[in-house]
Amino acid sequence: MIGYRRSGALPDKPHTVHRDAGGALLYEHCHTRDGFDGPFSILYHRQPPQFVGDGEVITPLFPGRSDGAPASDSPVRRRHLDSLRAPPQGGPVTGRVPLLWNADLTIGVVRPTTEDDFLYMPGDGDELFFIQSGGGVLASTFGTLSFSAGDYVFIPRGVPYHISLMADGAGAASQHWLWFELRTGLKLPTQYRNPVGQLRMDAPYTARDFTASELGAPRGDVAELRTVVTKRADRFTRHSQRAPVLDVVGWDGYVYPFTFPIARFSPKIGQVHLPPTVHGTFATRGSLVCSFVPRKVDFHKDAIPCPYPHSNVDVDEVIFYCDGDFTSRRGVHAGSFSLHPAGIPHGPHPGAYERSIGATETGETAVMVDTFDPLRLTTDALALDVPHYDDSWT
Ligand SMILES: [Fe+2]
Repeated sequence: MIGYRRSGALPDKPHTVHRDAGGALLYEHCHTRDGFDGPFSILYHRQPPQFVGDGEVITPLFPGRSDGAPASDSPVRRRHLDSLRAPPQGGPVTGRVPLLWNADLTIGVVRPTTEDDFLYMPGDGDELFFIQSGGGVLASTFGTLSFSAGDYVFIPRGVPYHISLMADGAGAASQHWLWFELRTGLKLPTQYRNPVGQLRMDAPYTARDFTASELGAPRGDVAELRTVVTKRADRFTRHSQRAPVLDVVGWDGYVYPFTFPIARFSPKIGQVHLPPTVHGTFATRGSLVCSFVPRKVDFHKDAIPCPYPHSNVDVDEVIFYCDGDFTSRRGVHAGSFSLHPAGIPHGPHPGAYERSIGATETGETAVMVDTFDPLRLTTDALALDVPHYDDSWT
């Protein structure tokens, strides 16, 4: 939640009569978080935003977090998961492959090749994508929002949406997205806010770095969609509405989809190596998403810029490598995940530590997630496991 935004036509005061230019009454729709105590937005629809009928339970559109054998029978160890081995398939919803999960979040990958022919309304968590390659247009009740490679895309829980794929010059087959289902909700780290909730001047981003959905005409076929698939408690239900779902003429508030380009994260550096928490970008109740972007490195004359070997004994660490030269890890490439479970020492591979002395900058881009609750692997994750990752330390 970045701050107050508005789009389209609004009445002067909430909960009062609002009519369109032709005199037709518009229907208010309050979208509230934390019961009625948290952030909220208010939308105005042309038709009452109500489903018709009981809904229909449908086969899950993508694998569940615990489908198949849990990885409890495999060793807890450092791993390299290669998401390029996940086959391009399905749509932005149906093509999802959950890889790692805990009570707080699910981490997966999506490489869509087609579009979904329904609106999806996530009920189990906020959704966050990182666009490794490709792009598209998110259409939701809050309007449209274009995204491209290098963007984070945030969709609050309970918002019906559809994603149209757009080629990035290499064609739709190049779509490759990191996907999070954030069950305890996404927040900006509280230390980045001043007492009135504004982003502090020393925060690593400003409100101008975030782009919110804006009302506008969605693509014709998307504008006509009347089917919404909801997911709640990992159950999928198909609902329908008599009128098009994306019929909002105005909204305002603090809850809305947004994009944030990772390249606009302003990194902090120190005289000597700073812990990765300075790269914190988004937080949940028990996790921190960090953005590593190209930057100058530590400037002490004897600094060792490469990360020190460490045992971060309370958190599991996942890094998704996006671009550049990954100085601390041999064998990984853009599209790789590394998983370093809590308490198991890890750090740079032999030689990297020494070679980093005297370096002045790094060109790497990566997304890291630290989670307090232990992560479990899905069977699909085990299929992406690159053997002998431990050998990179020997
Ligand atoms: Fe680490």
